[in-house]
Amino acid sequence: MRVHVLTLFPEMFGSPLAAGVLRRARELGTLEVWVHQLRDYAGGRHLQVDDTPYGGGQGMVMKPEPLVAAIEHVAAADAPRRILLSPQGIAFSHERARSLACERALLLICGRYEGLDERVKAHVDEELSIGDYVLSGGELAALVVLDAIARLLPGVLGNAASPADDSFATGLLEHPQYTRPEDFRGARVPDVLLSGEHAAIARWRRQQSLRLTLERRPDLLAHAPLDATDRAFLRKLGWRDGDGG
Ligand code: ADE
Repeated sequence: MRVHVLTLFPEMFGSPLAAGVLRRARELGTLEVWVHQLRDYAGGRHLQVDDTPYGGGQGMVMKPEPLVAAIEHVAAADAPRRILLSPQGIAFSHERARSLACERALLLICGRYEGLDERVKAHVDEELSIGDYVLSGGELAALVVLDAIARLLPGVLGNAASPADDSFATGLLEHPQYTRPEDFRGARVPDVLLSGEHAAIARWRRQQSLRLTLERRPDLLAHAPLDATDRAFLRKLGWRDGDGG
């Protein structure tokens, strides 16, 4: 997959792209990332990329010309899916990451300042938000989206690890994990995990996932694939079917 990023702060991408899963995906050749400086597309002597808002108000607004010139330049070469990161976007999710991981090329457009000229939005395919808070720009959001997608690309996590059990991949939060030592300052690994009984371990993990999801994210239960055993277990914990918690 090829990913283009459009930003006023290309330097924000250096370290994240040089470590961990993003580095591995790039080294494998599975992921190619091209970071473009938006200012290179600004005209005039001052290479201005922002201006005061029509109608008055605080802060600056990103001008449409450099953004659209940059989008068109990248799009002409690669026809990527164009994604604007913004707090007004649709909520980014694991499901969205999975479907974006099937694209051949993406363009992640990072806004700054108080926002960008509304007319830019006619030149993007979708607008994504990574959560209900306002960041000072789209760069960190673009990295979040990129990381979530990169780890789903074929071969990136290697054979041993699989994203299939991740929190959200199953529609539930992931069960707790333990490794050595068996006893850490008096806190013991649950006996069932030491038992070697695969069916009992699978049942325990499923129940832990259900319990945790009910406690922390009961809203997920409304859409999670639950069988009759899951439902019976949740009801014992006080969950009432159909009330979202
Ligand atoms: N830019 C600023 N805040 C953002 C958010 N929450 N998600 C995506 N892009 C953003």
